Amino acid sequence: MKHIAIFASGRGSNARKIIEYFQKIEDVKIQLVISNKDTAAVLDMASEYNISTLVINRQQFYKTENLLRELSIFQIDFIVLAGFLWLVPPYLVQAYPEKIVNIHPALLPKYGGKGMYGMNVHKAVYAAKERVSGITIHYVNEKYDEGDVIFQAECPLETADSPEDIARKVLNLEHYHFSRVIHDILKIKK
Ligand code: GRF
Repeated sequence: MKHIAIFASGRGSNARKIIEYFQKIEDVKIQLVISNKDTAAVLDMASEYNISTLVINRQQFYKTENLLRELSIFQIDFIVLAGFLWLVPPYLVQAYPEKIVNIHPALLPKYGGKGMYGMNVHKAVYAAKERVSGITIHYVNEKYDEGDVIFQAECPLETADSPEDIARKVLNLEHYHFSRVIHDILKIKK
């Protein structure tokens, strides 16, 4: 049995898709949803599915023993970042080597790095008049959006697409691919 923790800061639409997907998979369990915001919608959503939740503050996140203790209590094998905005500290990357994945709403290495999240990304893609955008699922290392790429998918953009249209297209791709790609990684890591 693989036990997953999802880290999320916001509405949690990807987290919901992942939870729903793995409800049908016997040997994978979403054990825990962790957020840095006590008002994040993702926490209520996780509770709907009877999944344990944890709210962490900056100090708890960046101080080694607290979080590692919690993760070990919940027997977490694998971490999924789904809209989690804090930079992952080195101790966590080292404790979970190639066992932390993130989804980024653009085709990295373009439109990544500090400050490149949410609509900031889609507005930049729009401003550059890109004809294509997409998603990147990658391992997490100590730098924002720089870990090894695992999977990318593209969506074509029309000249009439607004940043909101781009966001919608990209989110559809995320919902379609993320759970399956996580599952494929877990199968390889058995
Ligand atoms: C997604 O666009 C994801 O790429 C990014 O944060 C967003 C999270 O959206 N990392 P949601 O909270 O899953 O709806």
